[in-house]
Amino acid sequence: MIKKQSVTVILLAGGTGNRMKISTPKQFLMIHGKPVSHYSFEIFMAMPEIKEIVVVAQPEYRPLFEQINHEIPLSFALPGARRQDSVFNGLQSIKNPGELICIHDAARPAITVSLVKRVLEAAKAFGAAAPGMPIKFTVKMSNQNGFVEHTPDRSVMWEIQTPQVIRYPLLVEGFQYINHTGQIVTDDVSLVELLQKPVKIVEGNNINVKITTPDDLINIERFLLPDALERVFYGK
Ligand code: C5P
Repeated sequence: MIKKQSVTVILLAGGTGNRMKISTPKQFLMIHGKPVSHYSFEIFMAMPEIKEIVVVAQPEYRPLFEQINHEIPLSFALPGARRQDSVFNGLQSIKNPGELICIHDAARPAITVSLVKRVLEAAKAFGAAAPGMPIKFTVKMSNQNGFVEHTPDRSVMWEIQTPQVIRYPLLVEGFQYINHTGQIVTDDVSLVELLQKPVKIVEGNNINVKITTPDDLINIERFLLPDALERVFYGK
């Protein structure tokens, strides 16, 4: 059981979304009358386990979050140049950190309360956790010239999603480590892997996609229809 008010959320909404080729960042596109970022924001806002939400976003987008009726304390941080810098800024802005820090890409709107709870439970038990789906396709490693060098065994490969949850002291230690070594990470549990500590993968879901390119919008619009989550996947 996760205690009430024991989790701090860092909601990452600071990207510019260059790959979408439009001026509005993807996390603020409107889908069914609501910004993409608010689908996950509202899920977190409704969870008694959450004690504070830090939104990482450019200041012009803050009113979008402030205008939502929120009982959970809300703070803001400025985005950094890379995703990991935005997470770090978010971490610095936490007023009173919870036992667990839950980091989520606002560009992944189709999360559910049960998915978030699965990751929280696993992080509480093991220190760090992330949702993942078994890879459905074959992955190849190539050399610089585009020739195949190696085909890894896909039965042990996962497509990793967010939210990713890490115990607060472990996340701080992870950042101390990469700030010292200068390493680049593309997700949060990588910080824990670099410390050679365990990261548990829990069941993600197929609709928890990250909006990255314009074609991602076609599916996500359907996934975010009011009854779609129940229909597609029974609240998982
Ligand atoms: O760019 P990417 O798709 O990896 O971004 C994942 C999430 O991280 C998005 O929600 C984006 O807004 C956020 N992000 C950020 N600061 C950055 C880069 C990305 O908050 N510098």
